[in-house]
Amino acid sequence: MKSDIKDVRLANQGKLKIEWAGRQMPVLALIQKRFAKEKPLKGVRISACLHVTSETANLMIALKAGGANAVLCASNPLSTQDDVAASLVKHFGIPTFAIKGENKSTYYKHINQALDHEPHMTMDDGADLVSAIHSERKDLADTMKGSTEETTTGVIRLRSLEAKGLLRFPVVAVNDAQTKHFFDNRYGTGQSTIDGILRATNILMSGSVFVVCGYGWCGRGLAQKAKGMGARVIVTEIDPLKALEAVMDGFDVMSLVKAASIGDIFVTVTGNLHVIRGEHFQTMKSGAIVANSGHFNVEIDIPALQKLSKRVREARPFVTEYELKNGRKINLIAEGRLVNLAAAEGHPASVMDMSFANQALSAEWVTQSGDQLEKRVYSVPLAIDEKIAALKLEALQVRIDRLTPDQTHYLSSWEMGT
Ligand code: NAD
Ligand code: ADE
Repeated sequence: MKSDIKDVRLANQGKLKIEWAGRQMPVLALIQKRFAKEKPLKGVRISACLHVTSETANLMIALKAGGANAVLCASNPLSTQDDVAASLVKHFGIPTFAIKGENKSTYYKHINQALDHEPHMTMDDGADLVSAIHSERKDLADTMKGSTEETTTGVIRLRSLEAKGLLRFPVVAVNDAQTKHFFDNRYGTGQSTIDGILRATNILMSGSVFVVCGYGWCGRGLAQKAKGMGARVIVTEIDPLKALEAVMDGFDVMSLVKAASIGDIFVTVTGNLHVIRGEHFQTMKSGAIVANSGHFNVEIDIPALQKLSKRVREARPFVTEYELKNGRKINLIAEGRLVNLAAAEGHPASVMDMSFANQALSAEWVTQSGDQLEKRVYSVPLAIDEKIAALKLEALQVRIDRLTPDQTHYLSSWEMGT
């Protein structure tokens, strides 16, 4: 099968990056080793639509070791690491369709090329493959055994398909595994979002006013890391429980209209639409930085920003400066796309180790389950989650205590009081 990548001559540099990431992915390495022996995915055609990074490359290599016939396309037009894509094609024989900066039509052409593989299983980050199979590529649904989904927004889209009675095959919500969102969404997004903003702007975090829109798993991590770097953090929310949690965690909580005139840096991590809008841009300080780390580029109302502007220019790589008609300048990072993957390298490998261990073991679980699964959204089995946590602790050389027989008995009884 052919590939569509930027330049195969980048392959050697990509291979070094894949190896570097692999050293921080011990759980996935153990799974790969077992897969190579047992071949649990023998003959399974997998189409994956994931961010094409060095960590994803390690997942693809593990799937191939398990006997899968796997292909990969990008899950975002800006997140591809071209050198990694080149190495996947040249050194690992994994067909890849991804070019950093591809336009919308190429992005969907690549999705369709990955689907031309006629998969038994898809692996999504944002549900684009599943969405295509439920719209333009309906012919592919009958041979699909199942799918796995990496992110919160993808799971929301899949649950919507399920609720409307339209889901055509079983799906595993990898995002909802505890060894995924507790760590990837929180610590991964927290660190790599700041990494992306700093690489793009080189600003000083200390003393800045950092506004986090959304206090879910990603928002909590981001607020914590920004505070750790000396920023004054403001949180905005629409959910009273999350807002209260942010207050009790020690953050200022207010409406975005109020925060707009105070903040220096604004980051959306809500999975929602048009969170930062015209009314907010109008009152922001000149020089304000605006970025998004939620899945789609809809959280910042960019058309509204364009409408308010009299001039637009590239101030630095990944920084677009909008000069508003009121004379103020707003800096939008990475076109409002996932800033951690577009302007940096995404989450560190150590955290993707657990996310992708969940992907690999969920793919094995779907295959082993054969036709027993229904057309619904499944959680990752708890046994898989617990196994990954135990293996990660072992890799980190952390030992924990075991329950004594007395404690086991006590925890399952009602008779004993003070
Ligand atoms: P979550 O559901 O845990 O949190 C989202 C929060 O946003 C919720 O608390 C919700 O109440 C809040 N919210 C919704 N609308 C809002 C609004 N208008 N203003 C303020 N707050 C609002 O979700 P999550 O796991 O934190 O994921 C958030 C987004 O980040 C999703 O799109 C997800 O797919 C994406 N994600 C990105 C990365 C990455 O690498 N950048 C990693 C994981 C998840
Ligand atoms: N999502 C967030 N960070 C990632 C990474 N490094 N690789 C793949 N997907 C990601």
